[in-house]
Amino acid sequence: MKFARRAISPSWSSFEVFAMLVQIPDVLKPEEIKSVRGILEQAAWVDGKETAGEQAAKAKYNLQIKEGSQAAVAAGEIILRALGRNAIFNSAALPLRVLPPLFNRYDAGMKFHAHVDGAIRAIPGAGMRMRADVSTTVFLSPPEDYDGGELVIVDTYGSHEVKLPAGHAVVYPSTSLHSVSEITRGSRWASFFWTQSMIKEDSKRALLFDLDNAIRDVRSALPDERPGVLGLTSHYHNLLRHWAEL
Ligand code: NI
Repeated sequence: MKFARRAISPSWSSFEVFAMLVQIPDVLKPEEIKSVRGILEQAAWVDGKETAGEQAAKAKYNLQIKEGSQAAVAAGEIILRALGRNAIFNSAALPLRVLPPLFNRYDAGMKFHAHVDGAIRAIPGAGMRMRADVSTTVFLSPPEDYDGGELVIVDTYGSHEVKLPAGHAVVYPSTSLHSVSEITRGSRWASFFWTQSMIKEDSKRALLFDLDNAIRDVRSALPDERPGVLGLTSHYHNLLRHWAEL
């Protein structure tokens, strides 16, 4: 359901903003999708219940690449490199720490009932934990490859169904209830991961994202030395300074 969509000026209409859901097109280039899929095709898939908490495990029916396996690390590096160069992801998530990406697969009959992701996650091999503030799903299968398999995200505006072309991503608050609808045909492959944001609170992160987008739009029309442009930019950084937790 696509509502709560904000007015977006033409210069930044290449992505869509729903409340706190941010869709990011073309995170992966076609050759990167091919590389990631090539790695996953050779990898061993295990039961997804392995990485779920007790409650989520009862709701989860899918397959995953083993966490920390060579395949997961290699494919994860491609995803993280792509995200590192993505201005929209960085503006929307304001990442402090990113967990290594995981990879899941839903074949016909598989689904993930409504659940909330665990708040605290161990960083593999680092001996430390992080807070999951922002969830990201990167779609790896073209939508025509499967029926069903919508990612359904519930927020205060209602429920939103997301099914994107391969290489596109959706960023949403880890605080939201979400599910993956049952696959009725084909196979849906995706990467997902959690980010600890410098901004813990969803609403503050959303305000900064809005402000950053507005500044981008204003800067496209006015020179950077205009006092208004300088003032807005300094306002953004001072808010970030005020709110960021490192
Ligand atoms: Ni989840």
